[in-house]
Amino acid sequence: MNITIFGSGYVGLVQAAIFADVGHRVICMDVDADRVERLRDAEVPFFEPGLSALIQSGMDNQLLSFTTDTKAAVQASDYLFICVGTPSKSDGSADLTYVMQVASSIARYMTSRKVVVTKSTVPVGTTDQVLAHIKQALHDQGRDIPIETASNPEFLKEGSAVKDCQSPDRIVIGTRSPKVLEEMRRMYRAFNRNHEKIMPMDPPSAEMTKYASNAMLATKISFMNEMANIAEAVGADIEDVRRGMGADPRIGYQFIYPGCGYGGSCFPKDVRALKFLAGQFGHRAEILTAVHDTNQRQKNKLAERVMARFGSDLSQRTIAVWGLSFKPNTDDMREAPSRYVLEGIWSYGGKVRAYDPQAMAACREIYGERGDLVLTEHKEEALEGADALVICTEWKAFWSPDFEQVKSALKQPVIFDGRNLYNPAHMEELGIEYYGIGRGL
Ligand code: UGA
Repeated sequence: MNITIFGSGYVGLVQAAIFADVGHRVICMDVDADRVERLRDAEVPFFEPGLSALIQSGMDNQLLSFTTDTKAAVQASDYLFICVGTPSKSDGSADLTYVMQVASSIARYMTSRKVVVTKSTVPVGTTDQVLAHIKQALHDQGRDIPIETASNPEFLKEGSAVKDCQSPDRIVIGTRSPKVLEEMRRMYRAFNRNHEKIMPMDPPSAEMTKYASNAMLATKISFMNEMANIAEAVGADIEDVRRGMGADPRIGYQFIYPGCGYGGSCFPKDVRALKFLAGQFGHRAEILTAVHDTNQRQKNKLAERVMARFGSDLSQRTIAVWGLSFKPNTDDMREAPSRYVLEGIWSYGGKVRAYDPQAMAACREIYGERGDLVLTEHKEEALEGADALVICTEWKAFWSPDFEQVKSALKQPVIFDGRNLYNPAHMEELGIEYYGIGRGL
């Protein structure tokens, strides 16, 4: 099949690459000429395991190409996927400017039947809005061309995006057109193996499935962070509690890790957007409000703990930070807990020495050169002469460091662990002052 993907971010690029990998002819369109140029050399603008190789092989097989030419991109394919960003506006709602710009371009350049698929996470009702917008524009231009739509949300995780897309646990197709459903079944045949994964529904339900899934996952995390804070207050160890809870299959072990809060481009934005959407329909989404507020408090926790230990004047202090990305296996620092740590320490006059296996360039881009930030080549170097170590991300490289080396590099052996990587009893044996999350302080 011929498919055009608008947007070469996480969702668009991965989807383009895996569609080309199973034999579809895919054009990926982006307005950013520099990005497109680099993609033609299989240079992926972010770190995502396996993606560059897949893009290269798609181009080698002449099934995948990149363009900035909107008109050619619209006219080349029957299926047009909208995978552009939907950032948060200041009121929490999703900004649909880019989605509607693509819709306008489609209306302007289409000369034959098109099916427009929204894959970006969009507020409930957007797919219908895109259809109405294109129909109206065609009508205004006096053109009568068949146009259909579908909502086909993406559930990939950064860091395992290629794998998630290649073996999805569900393929949600929200459309009112039986013909589109049939065609999309064919499009996804290679991914619909082992058991039936395609879930047909109407577009609003498909859009809501995506928001509700992310909101549920975010709720699990905020719930566990609340339990961790209670555990801390009452003298229990949340890690034992977590294991005890997870053994009940109705609860399960997944996604119940307490920590320094959820970050990334999805959960914070989607929880806010769903809350806003509910409000527009007169519903006060109290659980979502609590999930969001709990997460904000949790993100401030590590910096507050550093202040509680060293006082609010950190002008004579240097803090080592391990992990800048919002989670391992990505270089993404969007809404990362580490940013609250860095900015918290700086606001009290402290200095930071930081290391991350992938996110150093992202960090430089956000904060630029500044006297109170040193980014080091190795994790050991970050510790040199620092007063304490703060861990923000559970990269494998941080799980079993040489603790003797950690002790001798730090001015005093203090660790604030935002991911509960170490065993408090072991830390005590080693003579390290250790603060985890929810570990009965
Ligand atoms: C998330 C969802 O997991 C995907 O299903 C969804 O498709 C995606 O958003 C999206 O909407 O595009 P992602 O943002 O890549 O994926 O990252 P996650 O692995 O879900 O982690 C999100 C945050 O939650 C991270 O900061 C992580 O550290 C935190 N987390 C996760 C916890 O604090 N505890 C846990 O138990 C799990």
